[in-house]
Formats: sequence, C-alpha cells, structure tokens
Amino acid sequence: MKGIVLAGGSGTRLHPITQAVSKQLLPVYDKPMIYYPISVLMLAGIREILVISTPADLPNFQRLLGSGDQFGLDIGYAEQPSPNGLAEAFVIGADFIGNDDVALVLGDNIFYGQGFSGRMQREVSSLDGCVLFGYPVKDAQRYGVGETDAEGRLVSIEEKPAKPKSNKAITGLYFYDNDVVGLARALEPSPRGELEITDINMTYLRQGRAKLVDLGRGFAWLDTGTHDSLLEAGQFVQVLEHRTGVRIACLEEVALRMGFITPDECLALGQKISKSGYGDYVVAVAKAAGA
Ligand code: G1P
Repeated sequence: MKGIVLAGGSGTRLHPITQAVSKQLLPVYDKPMIYYPISVLMLAGIREILVISTPADLPNFQRLLGSGDQFGLDIGYAEQPSPNGLAEAFVIGADFIGNDDVALVLGDNIFYGQGFSGRMQREVSSLDGCVLFGYPVKDAQRYGVGETDAEGRLVSIEEKPAKPKSNKAITGLYFYDNDVVGLARALEPSPRGELEITDINMTYLRQGRAKLVDLGRGFAWLDTGTHDSLLEAGQFVQVLEHRTGVRIACLEEVALRMGFITPDECLALGQKISKSGYGDYVVAVAKAAGA
C-alpha cells in the first residue's frame, strides 16, 4: 500500500499564523505537525509516501523531509495548485499510486493510542474497498459523520450534517483499494466546488464495501484547526511526553522500531540535531537499541 499526505489548503482559520507558513509545518509541541500523520503511515507499514501541498509551500516540506531516505522511506512531492478538495489527491497522485492500494491521511490530523499500529496493519492486509476510522466527538456537525447499525456496520455517511445521526466523526485517515483513482477521476465537484472525499466513501458504501473502524473513546484524535485546538494538541503531546518520557510521532524512533533504519543510522540522525531535547531523545533511543 502507498500513502498520501495531503498538506494543502490556505489555513485561513489560523490566520495570521498561516499567512507565511503552511499550517502543516507549524509546531505541535516539539515537532512539525506533518510528523504526526507521516508517523501514522509508517506505523501502518507504508514506506512510499507522496506529500501534496501548494506550489508555494512544497519546497519547505522538501527541505524538512528530503527524499525520506534518512527514515528508510521514499518520499515524493506533488502540487495541488488550488484547494479543490481532498479527493483531488487521488487524481494528482494517480501515477504515484499506480496499481496499488492507497492510504490518505490529512496533514493536520493527530492520532494517538495503544495498539494503533497493529489495528492499521490488520486493516491494510484485509482491505476490501475502503476503511474509514470513526471517533466520538461532541461537535460532529463539523465533520464527516458515520452512522452504524447495532452490529457496527456502516449504514450512512454525511458531510458536515446540520443534525448528525451519530457522534462518530470520520477522521482524516482513509484506506482504499485501487478503484479510488477511477472514482476520483469521475467525481463531479460538490456545490462548494470541491471533489469531496465523502462522495467517494458513499460510493463504496453503496457497493457494500465501506467499513468504519471505531477508534473508541480510549483513543485520541486531535484537531489543529483553530488557535485553541492547535495549542491544546501541543499541550496534550507535552503532558504525555513529560509523564512517560516517550515521544509521540518521533519519526526517527518510528523508523527504528519499524525496522526501516538500523540503530546506527538512528544514532547519526540524533547526533545531527543533538542541540535539541528531541535530538537527545533520538540518540538515547538509538543507544538503547544497541547503537
Ligand atoms: C475533512 C472531511 C471530513 C473529515 C475531516 C477530518 O473536512 O471532509 O469528512 O471529517 O476532514 O479532519 P475538512 O477538515 O476539510 O473540513
């Protein structure tokens, strides 16, 4: 399976912070926001990743992440000139996807929870159609919303409904089989002029090939869309990292634990940024693994 991180948009809800800097490059405590969704793809076992952003912002992502080789990844880049909707990612990324399955993760989504890696890997290996991930929220009308029957089967999906039929927001992580490319190409723009991911998901639902995995309340799916939620996400990460001494979405550590890089390679990465606490952590992780 291949992975796409969509990091476009103009971040208008965070102006003036995002007037000169891409939202997905803003810090969430100790690392750039895009580290979190990239770590999600890595934990799903994905190593070929396409980062999609605006023509103005793309060079900064390239400066941050390079070829991905340092993390044992293959990272490519593609432009989304205007914010034409999430589903445009599959049109822009069609060549990159080729004949593979694909995961899409939104560049501003933060996921955290025990066992997430294994859950994703199980879904990747049993994929038939599409897999969506639901999470209970109190303001479901702000999101795509999934409704399930008593057996937990997905029965309806609505985008930002005024009266949500459930409290299950559909998070910004999606797994698809290769049909998604053709479906995205055939999509008509919605009334707000965008290629809607929800329209794709509804097609899979009609075919009986859409699954909603409930992440459950013992999990954290965080939003970074407003000044307050961005700060709160940073505080959440800070509290957990201080308490446990373990960092969330540290790409060097994830690469090491996934077997994408060796302890010595991890050590070298940490030493390059050893003036920061983050770098010290990477060094310590590498040494504990035998570097
Ligand atoms: C998008 C999707 C929505 C989903 C959300 C997750 O909304 O359209 O279905 O719940 O991402 O972050 P947007 O953030 O583009 O308004």
